[in-house]
Amino acid sequence: MGDRRWPAATARLRFRELEEADLDDMAALLGDPRVMAFYPAPKTRDEAAGWIARNRARYAEEGFGLWAVETHEGDFVGDCGLTWQQVNGRRVLEVGYHVRAELQGRGYATEAARACVEEARRRFATGVLTAIIHPENIASRRVAEKLGMAHTEDDRAHPWIVRAVMSLRLG
Ligand SMILES: CC(C)(COP(=O)(O)OP(=O)(O)OC[C@H]1O[C@@H](n2cnc3c(N)ncnc32)[C@H](O)[C@@H]1OP(=O)(O)O)[C@@H](O)C(=O)NCCC(=O)NCCS
Repeated sequence: MGDRRWPAATARLRFRELEEADLDDMAALLGDPRVMAFYPAPKTRDEAAGWIARNRARYAEEGFGLWAVETHEGDFVGDCGLTWQQVNGRRVLEVGYHVRAELQGRGYATEAARACVEEARRRFATGVLTAIIHPENIASRRVAEKLGMAHTEDDRAHPWIVRAVMSLRLG
């Protein structure tokens, strides 16, 4: 079992582990077609429950995953965190982020993802952190650029979507 801590709070946001009690918020987030525009389809409530369960398994096995992000007042913002993903058959560490549509455009994803970069540096002194991005997902690409990531390769594992791989060196 890994070191089960989450990123430090930021000026406006704090992190915690996703819990089963987050199902209403997560189902609303992942069921929103505006948030899931670059996924095959919005997630059903059952799929949102599976998402929470998968991340809880990641916390137990790796110590990290996608965490819940909320304001200091406790308002649910979305999720952001670190997961292992595959790029062209290789395992890579990815930072991921999803922000409620009503709260987008305020810099929340960038602020949360920066805290995750610091958390990745704390955990992995060397190596690479990536963001795997649908080519038309300009907002996500912009967040990755603001983190200091550059386009390093294309992932061709998907049958028809060539995804851009943005990355930065941790150490
Ligand atoms: C990607 C996402 C998390 C960004 O959240 P956010 O809190 O709005 O992000 P930020 O406010 O930190 O930054 C967004 C940047 O993208 C830009 N942007 C947003 N929509 C854009 C668009 N359609 N075209 C161009 N730029 C756009 C913003 O202007 C901002 O850049 P700036 O600071 O240079 O102005 C949010 O759009 C989202 O949840 N998308 C759906 C889920 C997703 O695709 N996640 C990524 C895949 S894992």
